[in-house]
Amino acid sequence: MKVKINENAVSEELNRANSIEGFYANTGILVTGATGFLGKGILEKLMRVCPSIASIFILIRPKKNQTIEQRFKKLIDDPIYESIKAIHPSVVNKVHPVEGDVSLSDLGLSVADRNILIENVNIVFHVAATVRFNEPLNVAVNVNTKSTARIMELCKELKHVISIVYVSTAYSNANIFEIEEKIYTTSFKPSTVINICESGDQQSIDLLEDEILKIYPNTYTFSKNLAEQIMSNNSDSLPVAIVRPSVIGASLKEPCPGWVDNIYGLTGIFMLIGKGTTRTMLVKKSKRLDLVPVDYVVNIIICAAWHVTLHRNNEVKVYNSTSNAHPIKWNQIRDIVVQCSRETPMNNVIWFPFCILVPNQCSYNVLDIFLHILPAFFMDIFLKLSGRKPMIMKTSKLFNQMVRAVKFFGQHEWTFHQDNVTDMIKRVNLLKDRDIVKLDLWDMDWKKYMITYMAGIEKFILREDSKSIDAAQKRLLFLYRIHQIVLMFSLFILLATIYIIYSTLTVRLFFP
Ligand SMILES: NC(=O)c1ccc[n+]([C@@H]2O[C@H](COP(=O)([O-])OP(=O)(O)OC[C@H]3O[C@@H](n4cnc5c(N)ncnc54)[C@H](OP(=O)(O)O)[C@@H]3O)[C@@H](O)[C@H]2O)c1
Repeated sequence: MKVKINENAVSEELNRANSIEGFYANTGILVTGATGFLGKGILEKLMRVCPSIASIFILIRPKKNQTIEQRFKKLIDDPIYESIKAIHPSVVNKVHPVEGDVSLSDLGLSVADRNILIENVNIVFHVAATVRFNEPLNVAVNVNTKSTARIMELCKELKHVISIVYVSTAYSNANIFEIEEKIYTTSFKPSTVINICESGDQQSIDLLEDEILKIYPNTYTFSKNLAEQIMSNNSDSLPVAIVRPSVIGASLKEPCPGWVDNIYGLTGIFMLIGKGTTRTMLVKKSKRLDLVPVDYVVNIIICAAWHVTLHRNNEVKVYNSTSNAHPIKWNQIRDIVVQCSRETPMNNVIWFPFCILVPNQCSYNVLDIFLHILPAFFMDIFLKLSGRKPMIMKTSKLFNQMVRAVKFFGQHEWTFHQDNVTDMIKRVNLLKDRDIVKLDLWDMDWKKYMITYMAGIEKFILREDSKSIDAAQKRLLFLYRIHQIVLMFSLFILLATIYIIYSTLTVRLFFP
């Protein structure tokens, strides 16, 4: 990696105050998690609106059969970077992959690379994490919690550090339902948990995990909570921002409307509803779903680095990046998703899309049998008989795992305070380039957004082209008719069963 040594000093800070672009000009940036959904968004936005950045170092781990150079090429060849390459071709040369792994000691960096970062990095975005909700405790703690300690060690060595942004989650305190922009401590001390997880004593780890899961919905949110505490305890006088997004969804506008990069969480659920695979969900329909477009989160993160540096009070600043001030409920989202799925059907839909929301596990289990397991069983038999690979049962099982993972979040709702975000918006509005970032959701048109989201799933995840729309609509019409026939048949069976039970009881009552 050949990089020109960047001699920016923090004393230049005041010159950076008037614009976001000015703040980032000539700085060296380190991003972890740049190959993930949010990280890609951050990288894209920085490259697009701050082309005068000195360098962006992205920490990438090698993967099976893929070197970091190959992974970097794949990343930068993503179509979302095409317009940047056209407008600012030189900015791509400022992005440098650095081999590392946040789960390893010293972040898995070579001494040479670490020295380059120490000399050149001014602003750090720590985004990398395992986002699997039910990761074993020791894995979640190592990747999500211990990594923040490793990042803070590096930050303290940086010669000219300006700001550090850690991306947490709005649900890092999921056991509390009104969340302020402050660090909450837990009855489990971070150092104790880390020590137990590092001891290798599986029995103690399992016991601890059981205790934790009595309070927290999963190991993921708990590990993020500990990570926040570590950032706070180790911040000393460094300007540290913690951004807490709620559920991140497709983009509203940037890099293009509906951009989405993976099928985790809600995106996967919306896709399966659209495909007609998912017909019931375990959520309380009147609860709020706190969904935020990825570009909104990216903007908050980029501005938080600026805000925490220039308006600091020697404390870690927390930014709740949520939508509860402009809420939408689960049933409203469901209605829009189903409507979109019917109006612009996806290719190869397997059933006429609908989705019944049920509030408790018992009703869900019953509906699951009739709406998922039995149909999947018969459809797989049909696929097998017609010489195709049975796969519906497998999808159904995967969905059930997802349902279990998100159950807690569909049963509760949270109120997030946003004082720091509001203060940041007020101050950004005074900047000359305030229009490059949209930081509030007050004019959010959820219906329009969800239509864009569903179109994004088709375009970026399923990669379906518009040529197949006619065929998809014909198929949907056919499935609609089958759906109606099955509904009538089910109604008939239900009425017949009621009639048989009723007549049996009546006969027994009057002629015992
Ligand atoms: N998505 C959401 O709804 C949501 C909501 C709230 C908060 N967040 C937070 O936002 C951040 C990004 O989430 P995301 O949705 O973008 O997740 P994602 O798509 O799964 O990306 C995770 C990123 O972390 C990297 N990573 C994981 N383990 C690593 C390791 N050991 N060393 C180096 N890099 C590692 C991954 O690299 P590889 O490509 O090598 O796997 C990937 O780049 C996370 O901190 C998450 O907690 C996400």
